[in-house]
Amino acid sequence: MKKIKVCKDGPYIVSGNVPLDKTIAEIGESDEPEFWVKKEDYKTGENYSLCRCGHTKNPPFCDGSHTAKKFNGTETAGFETFEELAKTYKGPDLDLKDAEVFCASARFCHPKGGTWHLTKKSNDPDSKKTAIEQACNCSAGRLVAYDKKTGKPIEPDFKPHISATEDPQEDAIGPLWVKGGIPIESADGKLYEVRNRVTLCRCGKSRNKPFCDGGHF
Ligand code: FES
Repeated sequence: MKKIKVCKDGPYIVSGNVPLDKTIAEIGESDEPEFWVKKEDYKTGENYSLCRCGHTKNPPFCDGSHTAKKFNGTETAGFETFEELAKTYKGPDLDLKDAEVFCASARFCHPKGGTWHLTKKSNDPDSKKTAIEQACNCSAGRLVAYDKKTGKPIEPDFKPHISATEDPQEDAIGPLWVKGGIPIESADGKLYEVRNRVTLCRCGKSRNKPFCDGGHF
């Protein structure tokens, strides 16, 4: 079974043959990130461990440096669901749910006036299309667009997969983008809500561990 286990003051142990790649946020015409581009696949086995302290010399894998660095990886995130945390922004054809606590500062929501503004104008086909694209590109799953007619979330079709992201515009290593509903278990053995997309901290600086809070800049 595919799973990510958070280790106390140590790495993420990934099990179940989960594919891993390096993906970068590429800048578009807006001079903001607009496209996710896969750069390479990593060779992995059935199980592997990914750094969450930010000190490894072999990213994205753990090389044991967390011990010498006395990494404090205490988990500070709650176990509330996205629905419990999200605020709803209403538009004519779409609603946008926004759980700000998960923000990984990927900035795909910035172009063309922003996803919130585009949602308000979602009776315009171009605005609706861009709002959906931007919400689906929100790696952290902070933003989720909902179809007004069906009331259902519009989600990208992800298979279980992890992308170690990078943000060249900010010259920063980004979070681990966990896709396709891989269960994440805390060091205490409790499961976080299983979601189609979430981002995990890999710099060690997040104040919402194990999730990314954009603190890698
Ligand atoms: S968690 Fe092991 S080196 Fe970072």
